[in-house]
Amino acid sequence: MSDQSANSQAIEGAPHSGVPDNLPAAESDLYQPPQSAIANANVANYLDLRHEALADIEAYWDARAREVIDWFEPYEKVLDASGAPFFKWFVGGKTNIAYNALDRHVKMWRKNKLALIWEAEDGERRTYSYYQLWQEVNKFANVLKSMGVQKGDTVTIYMGRIPELAIAMLAVTKIGAVHSVVYGGFSEQALASRIEDAQSKLLITCDGAWLRGKTVNLKDIADEAVKRSPIVHTVIVCQRTMQEVQMTQARDYWWHELMALPIASPVCPSEPMDAEDPLFILYTSGTTGRPKGVLHTCGGYQVYTATTLKYVFDLKEDDCWWCAADPGWITGHSYIVYAPLILGATGFMYEGAPDYPYPNRYWKLVEEYSITILYTAPTAIRGLMRFGDAWAERHDLSSLRLLGSVGEPINPEAWRWYHRVIGQERCPIMDTWWQTETGGCMITPTPVIPLKPGSATLPFTGIDAAVVREDGSTCEPNEDGYLVIKRPWPGMARTVWGDPDRYVEQYWSEFAKQGWYFTGDSARRDADGYFWIIGRMDDVIKVSGYRLGTAEIESALVSHPDVAESACIGIPDELRGNVIHAFCMLNAGVTGSPDLADTLKLHVRHEVGPIAVPAELSFVDSLPKTRSGKIMRRLLKAQVQGLPIGDVSTLAE
Ligand code: WT7
Repeated sequence: MSDQSANSQAIEGAPHSGVPDNLPAAESDLYQPPQSAIANANVANYLDLRHEALADIEAYWDARAREVIDWFEPYEKVLDASGAPFFKWFVGGKTNIAYNALDRHVKMWRKNKLALIWEAEDGERRTYSYYQLWQEVNKFANVLKSMGVQKGDTVTIYMGRIPELAIAMLAVTKIGAVHSVVYGGFSEQALASRIEDAQSKLLITCDGAWLRGKTVNLKDIADEAVKRSPIVHTVIVCQRTMQEVQMTQARDYWWHELMALPIASPVCPSEPMDAEDPLFILYTSGTTGRPKGVLHTCGGYQVYTATTLKYVFDLKEDDCWWCAADPGWITGHSYIVYAPLILGATGFMYEGAPDYPYPNRYWKLVEEYSITILYTAPTAIRGLMRFGDAWAERHDLSSLRLLGSVGEPINPEAWRWYHRVIGQERCPIMDTWWQTETGGCMITPTPVIPLKPGSATLPFTGIDAAVVREDGSTCEPNEDGYLVIKRPWPGMARTVWGDPDRYVEQYWSEFAKQGWYFTGDSARRDADGYFWIIGRMDDVIKVSGYRLGTAEIESALVSHPDVAESACIGIPDELRGNVIHAFCMLNAGVTGSPDLADTLKLHVRHEVGPIAVPAELSFVDSLPKTRSGKIMRRLLKAQVQGLPIGDVSTLAE
């Protein structure tokens, strides 16, 4: 395909001939990819490939599975749909993600290539070649083995954004154990319930973490969590902040002391894993308070994340890739730790806040490390945009060639600022829609796709996405509907840990008849076939791109002795996307006051974490409920926003 046709064919259902039947209107807000991006793209025939992939998804993913990873033993079957919705990919294949991320590179010239560059919030720097990272991972893998961790065991990891977090993850997967990383911004109860659900006997944490020049007491929180979930018998503590911590004898061990023992040998074989063996659990918020452990498996996840990184972010041997997420979320799992290493890339990781100590921190890092591709979130972009252009203009950003966005819809104004000021009108923006459950990018441009600010554009190769009505019929262009995925893909979550029924119920019941995956999002498609994500349809609120379940915050509030019942809603916010507004009904005899409101906010911070703290907290005498007793959050939301309250026929009184 010529550059020209790659450029002009970005529309759903366009014929292969290169003659578009329906080009995005020229006068609309359309950004054509620069010729250089098209000419050099890893996948120049991307549009043809999309059609080919959907024509035969098994052949397509078979080719990718051979292209991006190595297998110890080949698979017998690409896809087994006989147990749908419990799909199996690459059946019978044997592989290991740490092998593909490290071992195989160490056997060739990449041995001395930089795998990871890290900068601390205070400016300290560390680098790891593939060889060095491989050795650290092997050493820690041997430590874990010596502590009795076996294939299939779960290990919970609760750390700050430091290289040891990636080392811990890779060491766990190397020996065939299953990690559950809990974001370092979560607090006691959130951590305790995740440990409990995963039944982890071993916890890896830090003394503390740096954030905005202050320390977060991770070990104290971990201690409290372990008290609440006594299943943990061993805690490994990595020293980061050097603050004083309480070490419990015969339970707590220092990382650096263990790594100095003879047992920590720098050679450790990667355990051959079945493609469908558990790889990791990652908890995410759903409609109930109980954390939902999304399970990914060893084969398909690797294939999917490495393919998307290579195709969407066009990753090349000489790139310096920076995914600015936290490894504690799926974005960090997939695009900081695993996929870049699988592809043999050089990745950059930064410990701290985007605007610390000054609002130019990100741009300074881009300049200093000659970052070529930057992948961040709308909330960070909006937050930095607010300080004006001058902070970015001070820096040489000419190394950048591609930008990315993830986590929530990016408003066109922020998109244009990112494009103009950071990308200097040279860098296409990959607005990638996906979820913890999807493993990797699902609706996304690639560098050859014409862009519209605010649209995640088109489904990735092999992804059959649609916007449908409740009855499953396809929506008209620009009609809001349910965002569904009609066919399986290798990166899909396989189940909810320990609760397969919940997996079926959450994702596969809304369109059970058709056998489609329901994303929980609403969206619309425009006349060009471009997708516009509207937001969550369930009781999930996106605050600064973080996914929070109303139920989790509500249970934290109700766990306070003064609160009888609570309801939380998300209210749109310019900076954070949404903020939480909490309504509390107090116990008899307790009266609401500003002081109590503060106490309750602090309580939420303590139980769930700072991201869950309500921006507003009101005291109410009653909550609107349906006759069956469900809280009608929709009514609260309409009331707060001064919107029409709509249909209230199910309201109890
Ligand atoms: C939810 C998933 C994907 C990794 C980070 C979030 C929202 C995500 C976009 C985007 C509009 C987006 C959706 C989705 N979302 N990316 N580019 N445009 N919305 O993973 O925490 O599992 O959240 O984030 O609502 O369902 P997550």
